[in-house]
Amino acid sequence: MLTPAQDIKPTKADKFAFGLWTVGWQARDPFGDATRRALDPVESLERLSELGAWGVSFHDDDLVAFDADESARRARFDEWKSALDRTGMVTSMMTTNLFTHPVFKDGAFTSNDRDVRRLAIAKTRRNVDYAAELGVPTYVMWGGREGSEMDAAKDIRDALQRYKEGVDLLCQYVIDQGYDLRFAIEPKPNEPRGDILLPTVGHAIAFIDQLQYPDMVGLNPETGHEQMAGLNYVHAIAQALWSGKLFHIDLNGQRGIKYDQDLVFGHGDLTSAFFLVDLIERSDYSGPKHFDYKPMRTEDLDGVWASAEANMRMYLMLRDRARSFREDPAVQQALKASGLESLAEPTLTPGETIDDLTFSAEAAERLSDRGYGYVQLSQLAVEHLLGAR
Ligand code: GCO
Ligand code: MN
Ligand code: MN
Repeated sequence: MLTPAQDIKPTKADKFAFGLWTVGWQARDPFGDATRRALDPVESLERLSELGAWGVSFHDDDLVAFDADESARRARFDEWKSALDRTGMVTSMMTTNLFTHPVFKDGAFTSNDRDVRRLAIAKTRRNVDYAAELGVPTYVMWGGREGSEMDAAKDIRDALQRYKEGVDLLCQYVIDQGYDLRFAIEPKPNEPRGDILLPTVGHAIAFIDQLQYPDMVGLNPETGHEQMAGLNYVHAIAQALWSGKLFHIDLNGQRGIKYDQDLVFGHGDLTSAFFLVDLIERSDYSGPKHFDYKPMRTEDLDGVWASAEANMRMYLMLRDRARSFREDPAVQQALKASGLESLAEPTLTPGETIDDLTFSAEAAERLSDRGYGYVQLSQLAVEHLLGAR
């Protein structure tokens, strides 16, 4: 049964979250000035709460000015805490801005300047203390400036070693302080650097394996970041889940291989968004459904709040459609015919060894004849997605 649009209402139980920098984006781009006024973080918190969101995330600099002294920083966090109490909202994730200030133009943990690297780690550590104080479970690391434009600029083996050193030091710090906090690396292939380190989910998983405390570090994959590299985001999330590394998620929309669009979730590749929600809802992921999008530059503030709501409504509508897809007997039949149940079965029967497997050309011939029925299955999915079934 298709849930009517007017009955789709986000609630706090859905665990929807937004970055302060998303709704707060003033739409300054490399070619044009801001098109909207600045929003106070507390105003954003209140508006998001009214719309049915549950959590908010932010970079240190989204809440407190870059050059604020410790007493101003403390006052700002105290004010934030009372706003959280008042609205019943939570800070679901925190992160460090290591990309806006010119000091980070050549990177933060991997800058060629050792003093910059030391500053970047200290800035992160200071904000990790506040994250622990707020009970934030996940601390994101998006290394937007870690990378290069020219291969002459860095020995990437050294850069990765410095990246590891930074992450290892922060993990050690969290352990020593007894904080209950995990780190989530956010891959991105490019923008603002020509080539960013840890460009994809796969690269980041391999990097995590080399860390001193791999269990403390997972991923925060963003829809558009995989798709701007032409990669399949549903596959990326599936591999993150399979590796036990889906610590957090950044949902948004992207239309193909181009600059990072940060569109509303589902306003890019809608079919991929459908299968993503289907995957998440069938997984053990229980973290925030966090939207990292940018309200388009053409929108006024009413458009900002409408777009925030659109993200949540999109997720809920896709959840509704994914459920109806899974419940449809015709789909269950088609899934069986396509062999999905068989793929979930081990290839060897218990007690068998590789010696029990034999190759025969006749068997290959016979097995070649089957069709897999994927087109019919996909068509059923799209019919559910369109509300036609
Ligand atoms: C992007 C990134 C950023 C990061 C955020 C957290 O769109 O390039 O997603 O938005 O997620 O800054 O550090
Ligand atoms: Mn992005
Ligand atoms: Mn992001």
